[in-house]
Amino acid sequence: MNVSAQDVKITIHANQGRDKINKEIYGQFAEHLGSCIYGGLWVGPESNIPNTDGYRTDVLQALKALKVPVLRWPGGCFADEYHWMDGIGPREQRPKMQNNNWGGTIEDNSFGTHEFLNLCERLGAEPYISGNVGSGSVEELAKWVEYMTSDGDTPMANLRRKNGREKSWNVKYLGIGNESWGCGGNMRPEYYSDLFRRYAVYCRNYDNHRLYKIASGASDYDYNWTKVLMDNVGNRMNGLSLHYYTVTGWSGSKGSATKFSKDDYYWTLGKCLEIEDVIKKHCAIMDGKDPGKKIGLLVDEWGTWWDEEPGTTRGHLYQQNTMRDAFVAALSLNVFHRHVDRVKMANIAQIANVLQSMILTDTKGTGHMVLTPTYHVFRMYQPFQEATALPLDVKCDSMKVRDNRTIPMVSASAAKTKDGAIVVSLANVSLDKAQEVEFAIDGMTAKAINGEVLASKNITDYNDFAHPETVKPAVFKEASIKKNIVKVKIPATSIVVLNIK
Ligand code: AHR
Repeated sequence: MNVSAQDVKITIHANQGRDKINKEIYGQFAEHLGSCIYGGLWVGPESNIPNTDGYRTDVLQALKALKVPVLRWPGGCFADEYHWMDGIGPREQRPKMQNNNWGGTIEDNSFGTHEFLNLCERLGAEPYISGNVGSGSVEELAKWVEYMTSDGDTPMANLRRKNGREKSWNVKYLGIGNESWGCGGNMRPEYYSDLFRRYAVYCRNYDNHRLYKIASGASDYDYNWTKVLMDNVGNRMNGLSLHYYTVTGWSGSKGSATKFSKDDYYWTLGKCLEIEDVIKKHCAIMDGKDPGKKIGLLVDEWGTWWDEEPGTTRGHLYQQNTMRDAFVAALSLNVFHRHVDRVKMANIAQIANVLQSMILTDTKGTGHMVLTPTYHVFRMYQPFQEATALPLDVKCDSMKVRDNRTIPMVSASAAKTKDGAIVVSLANVSLDKAQEVEFAIDGMTAKAINGEVLASKNITDYNDFAHPETVKPAVFKEASIKKNIVKVKIPATSIVVLNIK
């Protein structure tokens, strides 16, 4: 490891922006898994935990502040065993099911279509429905679309009205299956392509609704899946998904979320940054068939995957979230910003209590909630939503990490907001050296600068119910402007977001 103090030089080309950073890059994912839905988002109207019509009031407030643009539901693997009709009508009459993917938990279906779509309306988020292809039927999914989006005198719209909702909901994003190569049916890409074509025909556009149909895409390095889908489905799909987890592997221990070495930390960032190479390779395949970039690549599951916290239920994927996770969030978002010509959405897994979550709630029912370091990154990065991505040149040191990967010591991204400001993110990944960063801005005269910084004493620091504010953002003061040169000093292991006017 060769980490030494150095100057970092960045040039931002403020007049060369072209593509918008879709707000959907900041998307979230909520699965019926562990306590993501039950105990995380939803406690039910009868709960002692303060709630608003069954939604946890504290969680609602935190998510509103996050400006969640899109929320994917009900899975994940759960989606391909979910039968939506079990989740409508009076809650006490809904049938139960066993959640076979996630610990065999009994699911009482009290959170269903109405509860989900009404939540999206409260949050101002676009719903992203992940449909059941693995164990469902074309008829079932077609009827779900009709139930949610038809305003006519149709059987499903009338059933919805009977269940208390007069007007259709705005549902644009429809996933046709999830991980169809694995938990979603163990299919071959040729077979899945035909199934997609068939399902897509019967998922109709009702009234003024226009569905954006998303095909179940590849797992990280499976380039053949993307190739076969591009060849056989092509522009019948609007989007193609991609799943990439920052994980040590799929068998054995994935490592502790909170107890890790410096070497583990740097390895994690190397694995996280490898998503860029994976994206480029999938994009190259897509470009071959779709040079006009009409089909979006949607990274609809990403984030860290560690061992479950000791003492929590197996299969519920409840993990803590440290400053290391904050870096994975910041670096991944910076990567997505560089590929917004093709990457139109990304959904971190998951919104509460599962994997790299925004929020952790006390599942023992004490009513506690904490915001994770990852939440703070998403909140700090908000100005990037709908801003125009700007090209930038970064000159900085880099280091070799385990598994023969190389990581730059500073990760940066820049964009121009609608009001003409430049927003810049800078992540100093070094565990021990502050970095002096100097940047020039082409095509804009910088007059004022302010920012926020997320840093903590130890990379292993996290927030828990006893110490909810160990990691939290602070005002960033180490910035100055002289003759259009911006100088900042970023502490070791810190993430900074600047706003320049
Ligand atoms: O996010 C957890 C699981 O990871 C999802 O259910 C599945 O799609 C993926 O394998």
